[in-house]
Amino acid sequence: MSKEFFFTHNLTKEFGGIRALNSLDITVHQGEIHGIIGPNGAGKTTLINVITGLEGPSAGEVLFQKNRIDRLPPELIFERGISRTFQEGKIVSNLTVLENVMIGFSKKGERDNISGNIFGILIDQLNQEHKNKDKGRDILKKFKLQSLAERWADDLVWYERQLVQIARAIASEPKFLLLDEPTAGMGIEEKKIIEDKMVEINQSGVTIMLISHDIQFIRRVSHRITVLNFGQKISEGLSEQVLTDPRVWEAYLGSK
Ligand SMILES: Nc1ncnc2c1ncn2[C@@H]1O[C@H](COP(=O)(O)OP(=O)(O)O)[C@@H](O)[C@H]1O
Ligand SMILES: [Mg+2]
Repeated sequence: MSKEFFFTHNLTKEFGGIRALNSLDITVHQGEIHGIIGPNGAGKTTLINVITGLEGPSAGEVLFQKNRIDRLPPELIFERGISRTFQEGKIVSNLTVLENVMIGFSKKGERDNISGNIFGILIDQLNQEHKNKDKGRDILKKFKLQSLAERWADDLVWYERQLVQIARAIASEPKFLLLDEPTAGMGIEEKKIIEDKMVEINQSGVTIMLISHDIQFIRRVSHRITVLNFGQKISEGLSEQVLTDPRVWEAYLGSK
């Protein structure tokens, strides 16, 4: 089937005595929004860190579009089309919002415009810079962030930081986008904006892995869900099936 898009096999990550990921088999189908839920410490962020190469796995495999990516450095995984956001809202504080989004363009087309002489190269670089600024502004406009383009990223409020992270990830034109708790700490209206953006990005052809604590949010947007507990998969399937699975209620939802 569509196992060909993305899957992990026996994926294990140990930190000293802690098994953050324990023989995980996760399959993400092309085109879907795949929700990952699980209690605090279940291994959700570690999963994204291992997929994106920030942490090497202790054992197991990660396959993306039929190729092993579990031994590749983060830059190469990024170049293959996997982008992410960070739970803690990572942006570069001494750059503007526009420059933060433009980081997403790096490595894409950098070598497209090499001419034969030094002036040509300089002119190409200037042209590229202008093009990138225009492209960056277009992306900011899509996120309704254009008025913040020249502001220092440091000045942004939490919700804007999350949006800028998503905008930066989109700038790299990913095939697979991994979002780590993109709505944590947000109010209903802010969540709705992130939700609409995510659905729009997904409908433009980007497959998404969404980590969230927010069951209602996950239920609304995910096509399928995988549930983790202590680094293991305890349930997976269509959203409604998974959310009525008693094991999930036991592990994650407690007595509710
Ligand atoms: N760099 C690390 N060093 C040691 N332990 C870690 C590290 N990263 C995560 N862990 C541990 O791995 C487990 C899973 O953490 P994490 O992936 O952050 O969970 P989640 O995102 O689901 O809350 C936790 O027990 C956590 O303390
Ligand atoms: Mg986490």
